[in-house]
Amino acid sequence: MREKFNVVKLDTTNTSLVFAVNDGNLGIAHYGKKITDLPQSDSLDMFLLNGQWGASVDRFNITKMSYSFVGDGNMRESLVSVINSDGTYTSRFVYKKHSLVNGGIPLDDLPCARNAEKTLIVELADDYANLTLKQYYTVFKDSDIIAVRQELTNNGKGNVTVLRLMSLQLDVSGTSYNCVSFNGAWARERYRKDTAVTAGTWMIQSMGGQSSAIMNPFFMAKNPDGNGVYAFNLIYSGNHKEIVEACNDINSTRFLVGINDYCFNLTLKAGETFATPQAVMLFADSEQSVTSEMHNFVNNHIVDPKFAYKDRPLLLNNWEGTHFSFTEEKLLELADKAAELGVELFVLDDGWFGHRDNDTSSLGDWYDYKEKLNGSLGKLADKIRAKGLHFGIWVEPEMISEDSDLFRNHPEYAMIVPGREPIRRRNQLVLDLVNKDVQDYLIKEIGDVIERCKAYYVKWDCNRHISDIYSATIENTGEYFHRYVLGLYRVISALKKRFPDVLFESCSAGGNRFDLGMLYYMPQTWCSDMTEPRHRLSIQEGTLYAYPQSAIGAHVSACQNSSFESKFNVACLGAFGYELDATKCTQEELEIIKKQIVFYKQHRHLLQFGKYYRLKSIFGRERKSSWIIISEDKSEAIAFLAETDELINSVPSEWRFTGLDDNALYSFEVRPQNNFKSDVIASGTAGGDALNNCEFSFGKLFSDETDRQPYGTPLATRLIYFKRID
Ligand code: GLA
Repeated sequence: MREKFNVVKLDTTNTSLVFAVNDGNLGIAHYGKKITDLPQSDSLDMFLLNGQWGASVDRFNITKMSYSFVGDGNMRESLVSVINSDGTYTSRFVYKKHSLVNGGIPLDDLPCARNAEKTLIVELADDYANLTLKQYYTVFKDSDIIAVRQELTNNGKGNVTVLRLMSLQLDVSGTSYNCVSFNGAWARERYRKDTAVTAGTWMIQSMGGQSSAIMNPFFMAKNPDGNGVYAFNLIYSGNHKEIVEACNDINSTRFLVGINDYCFNLTLKAGETFATPQAVMLFADSEQSVTSEMHNFVNNHIVDPKFAYKDRPLLLNNWEGTHFSFTEEKLLELADKAAELGVELFVLDDGWFGHRDNDTSSLGDWYDYKEKLNGSLGKLADKIRAKGLHFGIWVEPEMISEDSDLFRNHPEYAMIVPGREPIRRRNQLVLDLVNKDVQDYLIKEIGDVIERCKAYYVKWDCNRHISDIYSATIENTGEYFHRYVLGLYRVISALKKRFPDVLFESCSAGGNRFDLGMLYYMPQTWCSDMTEPRHRLSIQEGTLYAYPQSAIGAHVSACQNSSFESKFNVACLGAFGYELDATKCTQEELEIIKKQIVFYKQHRHLLQFGKYYRLKSIFGRERKSSWIIISEDKSEAIAFLAETDELINSVPSEWRFTGLDDNALYSFEVRPQNNFKSDVIASGTAGGDALNNCEFSFGKLFSDETDRQPYGTPLATRLIYFKRID
């Protein structure tokens, strides 16, 4: 039986993806743990997909495919959906050939994972409709991630309309997968949600032009029998859609990941090819392995290698300290304090351009607000650099205020549907980035800003969603959302090329565009405008499922309801900084900050790039939070413990660690905090095996209430530093 099949096996470090080809059909025989030899017995036939896969194959009976289309008899959500040049909807893609090539096959206009090892190219065709569909499966050395993308080519003479082309399809056996997604809103980004998909279709998506705070493209699907976890993400920053379809009729589940078909249709003219962004998939034994694999993948294959393992600067951003109300004098005072405290980078946020004193004007006018800055931006940057700090600048390039010279001179640059009143958000409109003139204008204007202040760092913000999609420069508005993303990537790529050493941080009203597409260009993303540490516990833990610490902008702010120490303990798990008016801090607070900065700098590399393990989950039953970050050689580690309840009449919590070297002896010490007494500082030594396997209550560590009661919060946090001594 098996000889009938042409088998194609693609291996990663720990997994195998096995295709079987027969009669022009391509099925997925296995995706999961690595297998070396394929079974040799007829009675163990892993390719008999639904028991019917013979010469008279009926697609309806093939339960596991890597592609699907309208009219294939499957009656499920499909990978491809087109209107052929003859006006019909039916497709018939069949397998033609495949080849294996070294490296990846990156695209010019979309970010693709870097440093690929090899790529399997599968070619399918619908000869009747003159369409070719190429599937690219790319693997990477020392990684279990497989990146998948599709290319559809119109070889005919007439136009074809693409209604949907997803990046990835995976069919697996069984139903009732527990899907874990990361959903939320502004200031509540990426909260974990679990949904068992027992019947019908479950979907996450974004529809506002960005990957969104509402539903991140990353999700996991846990096998209901406990046999591993599938995880998926998309290297794209626009509208995305992820579908999980429980097909009870054939006891199978289909996963689809790709560009959202909402407001989407694309005209594929004769000879044209449409390439999807890359999606990524992973099979792992546990959620923790998913996280570790995803973190490594981002650092090794997404982030610009120039920044991948480079320590991120410790910054002070003036936004929460001053908002729009600042003068040159105020900024210089702040910079003085920042330098005195040990900060390395000063970031000037919103309000330095045009005549912007509030959010009603000036977006688009990227020239200096000289009266406010008491001179030019360049001079201010020089003065700040003279204090020993790097200088960073905030911009919001994709937007336009109606009160701006840009709008007065080029109203056609704004995204407005002719004859309709546009929706305004934060008093602003979105620029039509599909228009090449707008792209070129941005490349020049933002380039000039970076040039004239010699920026070391740029915070690229985007403070509203896209609604009134329209461009006079394209015929088909169904292509708008995707072309916007291509326009954005073109602008960013040009600026990255011109300023390869500048560190970019992406932001979108906090974390509304936290995705692999933006991380490809900008190594870090501002995680959320919510800086209150109790809420941050959820936002950061949710984000960390898929994105590494170094990618997550996390700051201590002046929010009132937590101790400075808890704010630091929570925010130190990322690309760290302060966002407050340091001139208003008390001497005691300044001393605390100084000590925090010393600690952070001492352990920065470990905190930003060490291996992160979730211990207690804030989304779990206890709603406590703890993590540990361990260096690659396991010689040192930092753990974080957070009590989130008032401990009235309760026994102390017990904590367990993981990932330490079982055979090593460690010394440990709790980071001294000003809000608990020195005699309750825990320190000592312990074997790695005990730390990994026993539960510890840490004695009176949390018995002192000073970090809770004065702030009216139940949050109490501690950091523990471990060092191998034997
Ligand atoms: C957004 C960002 C903030 C800040 C403001 C400025 O909300 O998330 O960090 O930059 O814009 O207007």
